[in-house]
Amino acid sequence: MKIRASEKTLGAYVEEADLTDLSDAEWKELKKAFLEYAVLVLPEVFLTTSQQERFSERFGKLDILTGNPLIKSLYVCNVNESGEVLPMDDENFRIVRGNEYWHTDSSYMRISAKVSCLSALTLPDSGGETQWADMRAAYDELDQETRNRIEHLSAYHSFYFSQETLGQRVEVGSKYGFHRDGAPLRTLVKVHSETGRPALYIGRHAYRIPGLLDQDARELLSYLMDFACKPPRVFEHKWNLGDFVMWDNRCVLHRVRPYDYSQPRIMRHTRVKGDEQTEGAPMTKSEQPPYGLSAPE
Ligand code: OGA
Ligand code: MN
Repeated sequence: MKIRASEKTLGAYVEEADLTDLSDAEWKELKKAFLEYAVLVLPEVFLTTSQQERFSERFGKLDILTGNPLIKSLYVCNVNESGEVLPMDDENFRIVRGNEYWHTDSSYMRISAKVSCLSALTLPDSGGETQWADMRAAYDELDQETRNRIEHLSAYHSFYFSQETLGQRVEVGSKYGFHRDGAPLRTLVKVHSETGRPALYIGRHAYRIPGLLDQDARELLSYLMDFACKPPRVFEHKWNLGDFVMWDNRCVLHRVRPYDYSQPRIMRHTRVKGDEQTEGAPMTKSEQPPYGLSAPE
């Protein structure tokens, strides 16, 4: 297997690896590269659904995002079940467009994601690149004053909040498994359970910091996001059909770039659940959301 680092602080390309038939030594090598680069791209490997699912399961238990335990892959796409491109005002389309803003997967769930994997099944002619930003390198580059300021701070993460900022009311307890139990509270600095490296843990779902006025919390979060998601900490992948990418949600943010929304874009997503001990978060019911929705029951 050949592993070639990108020129950024994260991201590497893996060639000549058969993900469907890895020896123990190869898996060890791949896992080591994954922990080092946080994003691995395997060009044009054309995994089948079950091959992708089986490979993803090497990292841990899959998060069921479809509501059906037998269906482990989620199609992140702008088409309906008949393959027709969704209109701009479609509710699901607006949820998919939320992916255009820097985030880490499932940070609004009680247990956030460990790893996510994507395969490119259908692509628009242009645009639709995916970018990842390195929150370890971002933390390393923070000045001491900022580090001291955020050291003991935590933020609530909410999907209702992040969609509301895009003008979409998401019904509490509606599909996608959004919790009814309140919002998880997560430290702004996350120490990686496998590498021990600290990383900023932020993204578009983070919205309120206990001990700070909401206005100050928003300013701090947006300052950190702007600072963090800058070169050389941003790795971009321009997709070809059959490409497969895996990333570490514990230490990177990601987003998709705009594309021609009249053309179909279909990605197969598998998500590995985080570990209870390190990705589980306390849930708070009592916080009144600041964004117009009543608190989840
Ligand atoms: C995701 C996601 C980005 C993309 O699948 O979690 O954010 O490029 N996707 O589709
Ligand atoms: Mn995502």
